[in-house]
Amino acid sequence: MSSNPREIKEMVKKGYGDIARSGDSCCGPQDACDDLCGINFSDGYQQLEGYVADADLGLGCGLPTEAALIKPGETVLDLGSGAGNDVFIASTLVGAEGKVIGLDMTADMVARARQNAEKLGRTNVEFVLGEIEAIPLPDAAIDLVVSNCVLNLVPNKIAAFAEIHRVLKPGGRFAISDVVLQGTLPPALADASLLYVGCVAGAQQEAEYLATIAAAGFRDVVVQKSREIELPASAIAEALAPAEAEAFADSGVKIKSITVVARR
Ligand SMILES: C[S@@+](CC[C@H](N)C(=O)[O-])C[C@H]1O[C@@H](n2cnc3c(N)ncnc32)[C@H](O)[C@@H]1O
Repeated sequence: MSSNPREIKEMVKKGYGDIARSGDSCCGPQDACDDLCGINFSDGYQQLEGYVADADLGLGCGLPTEAALIKPGETVLDLGSGAGNDVFIASTLVGAEGKVIGLDMTADMVARARQNAEKLGRTNVEFVLGEIEAIPLPDAAIDLVVSNCVLNLVPNKIAAFAEIHRVLKPGGRFAISDVVLQGTLPPALADASLLYVGCVAGAQQEAEYLATIAAAGFRDVVVQKSREIELPASAIAEALAPAEAEAFADSGVKIKSITVVARR
């Protein structure tokens, strides 16, 4: 796999463009999705107020909108909004007085999210094509940033958290669900492009992730939820010889989904 950030992002765009065009949920029968979605990240979205099945491509790894305690009238920004799953939940909670902006760098995802918004007749949502490392919004414009299973895909996480800090109003907050690691993946797993696009290989060490957040100037940083994720046996078997797979199973390396909240 390339280590060039631009090439990594093109690979990510291609992977999510394929999913957006496939016309079904990620965990549907499409070939483009089968390998990615052997990993079970799902976290019980269906019970949330405002859930829209068409926008749920099975790509999230937590419930950031639940952790965010969204209030009516707020302006919310969802980073890496995909087909709009968290945007539509947030839009129900902020109501007509509020607004939710979804930002994604994959044109086909933005197109799919806009189609969903049109179908639902939502007027308090907007989907913007752009990159998290250079958010096309003014300083101090946002009450709350949410993001679901995205920042692991961003090569420059320092730039991402600096941008989140910049667009939040003073006292504004974020609630982010993401994948992090405890311990080092074997090189063959860390270099697997499918596992990068599948939100594992780009994940940072949890301690480094939390240190990046603190260094960006956030306070009251709390990991609200944390759970371990199992890699599917097929993904391990594809990358590792049986003896290496056994050593990995005994290594104590953990892949975790966390939901972290903090305040600017
Ligand atoms: C795993 S999907 C999650 C989608 C959505 N949050 C959900 O839960 O359904 C990751 C999304 O993040 C977008 N993405 C990845 N890196 C990005 C970046 N640097 N800037 C903007 N969007 C990005 C991808 O295009 C993709 O739609």
